[in-house]
Amino acid sequence: MGQLRCSSNCKLPRRSAAISSCSSTQQASYRLRPPLATDVPKLAVIEQLCGEFSANWSTADIQDELGKAISCVLVAADSSSDEALGYIVGWLFAGELQVLELAVDPGSQSKGIGSGLLAGLMQQCRCDADGVEVVLEVKAHNTRAIGLYRRHGFADVGLRRKYYADGSDALLMTRHAGAAAVSGPAPGADAGTAAS
Ligand SMILES: CC(C)(COP(=O)(O)OP(=O)(O)OC[C@H]1O[C@@H](n2cnc3c(N)ncnc32)[C@H](O)[C@@H]1OP(=O)(O)O)[C@@H](O)C(=O)NCCC(=O)NCCS
Repeated sequence: MGQLRCSSNCKLPRRSAAISSCSSTQQASYRLRPPLATDVPKLAVIEQLCGEFSANWSTADIQDELGKAISCVLVAADSSSDEALGYIVGWLFAGELQVLELAVDPGSQSKGIGSGLLAGLMQQCRCDADGVEVVLEVKAHNTRAIGLYRRHGFADVGLRRKYYADGSDALLMTRHAGAAAVSGPAPGADAGTAAS
């Protein structure tokens, strides 16, 4: 099956780019590539495995998102099997990239894949090169994801109380082009409600 459509605005690679993630102890061998129609069932499984912190998209939801003209999507695929290990979805519109979903198979987490997907999407959308602001919402107690975003230069810009269906607050984060990463604990860590 062929590749799913992606907006030409996304500047996603026509050919897959091999990407190595680094670690002396746990190295993930994966590459970033555009999504394939054959990825969708595995991506839906990853949605389920990621539990409350995923967007909880079904197969139909994923297909719908991947087909939108403004959608920019990258899949992290196992270098050997080409099986999808994680993915990121954003909308690039009016000079802004909105990250809608980032999810990595729990069996492949903590190997740099999430970080690689985020960096890869921002690079493909030329966020630093073209001054594209990146925005996202994340559950305020998702300390792990928040820490990842902070390491990539995102800053907190607001809180929407009881934003999600389960009553969780949403932390709004923004990254300005060229923003340097900030070290330190994720803001939600102070609340003592981390679940990831
Ligand atoms: C948040 C999420 C995407 C991060 O994905 P990931 O692949 O584990 O991310 P990374 O490996 O790049 O970074 C996560 C951690 O692994 C560490 N790490 C990175 N590379 C590593 C490596 N090669 N070896 C060991 N650890 C590594 C990072 O320091 C980081 O540490 P921390 O979590 O203690 O802060 C993933 O946990 C996930 O899918 N969660 C559920 C869905 C979710 O929360 N999505 C966000 C919605 S807004």
